[in-house]
Amino acid sequence: MSSAAIIAIAVAAIVLLAAVVLLSAARKSDVRGAGALSRETRRRDRDAEIDLPLTGKDVERAAVQARVPAPAPAAPLSVWVAPDPDAIGVSRRQFLNRATVTLMTAGLASFAAAGFVAFLWPTAAPVFGGKVSVGKLDDILSSIRSNAGFFYSSSARSYITVYPPEALPKAKGVKEYATVLGGMENGVVALYQKCPHLGCRVPECKSSQWFECPCHGSQYNRAGEKKGGPAPRGMDHFAVTVSGSGDVVIDTSTVFTGAPIGTNTTGQEAEGPHCITGGGGHG
Ligand code: FES
Repeated sequence: MSSAAIIAIAVAAIVLLAAVVLLSAARKSDVRGAGALSRETRRRDRDAEIDLPLTGKDVERAAVQARVPAPAPAAPLSVWVAPDPDAIGVSRRQFLNRATVTLMTAGLASFAAAGFVAFLWPTAAPVFGGKVSVGKLDDILSSIRSNAGFFYSSSARSYITVYPPEALPKAKGVKEYATVLGGMENGVVALYQKCPHLGCRVPECKSSQWFECPCHGSQYNRAGEKKGGPAPRGMDHFAVTVSGSGDVVIDTSTVFTGAPIGTNTTGQEAEGPHCITGGGGHG
C-alpha cells in the first residue's frame, strides 16, 4: 500500500470519528432541550428553594402511593355482654307456638279441603253409608245366574237377588216394601248382609237358594223374607235405583226394616238341602 493511500484512510477515519463525536454532542443537547435542566441549574434552584418540576420517577411513585388504600381506622372495642337466658327462652317459646299454630292451621285447611272435595264428588269413592254404584243391571243379572242365584257387593255390604215380577202385586201390599219397591220393579232387591236377629253376617245357601244364618240358624228366602229361626223379621233392605243407562246404585245411607214374620210374597220354598240345620224351630 502506498503512503498516499495510508494517509487517505487515516483522514477518512479521523473525519468519521469527528462526525460521531459531533452527533453525540448534538443528541445530548436535544435531550436537555426537551425540558431537562442542567445539573448546575438544578443545584442552584434547590439552594434557592424553588419547586423543581417532577421527574418521571417522582410521578410514578406518587401514582403508586395513590393506588395503595389507606388503612381503615380500627373499630372501637366493645365489651362482650352474655345473652339474657329469659330472652332466649321467650324466643324459643314463640318459635314453637308459631310452628304449632301453623301446623294446626295447615292440618285443618287440608281436612276442610278434603271434605269439600268429598262433598262435591260424593260418589267418587263408593263406600258403605252412601250411594254405592255396583255396576250395570245386565252384568249383575248375568253374575247372579253364573253364581247360582246371588250377587254380593262388599262395598254395599249387600246381596242382590232377583225379584220375580209376578210377585209385585203382593209386594205392593206390604207396607215395609214401599220404600224399596223401585228396585223390585226393576227385578232386583238389595238385602243388608246383617242378620236382624243379633247382627251376624248372613251368607247365601246355594243348595236351598235361601239365606241361612250360621249364628242361630235364622233362615230367609231369596227375597229376604223370614222362613225360620229366632230373627224377629225378614232381612233388612236398601233402596235400589237403576239409571236410564242401566247403572245400579244401592243407597246404603238408610236401612229399611225387613218385612214382618209371615210375609211371603214370592212363595219360594227351599230348593235343596239346607246349609244350616236346627234353627227352623225358632220361628
Ligand atoms: S244372628 Fe242370625 S240368627 Fe242370630
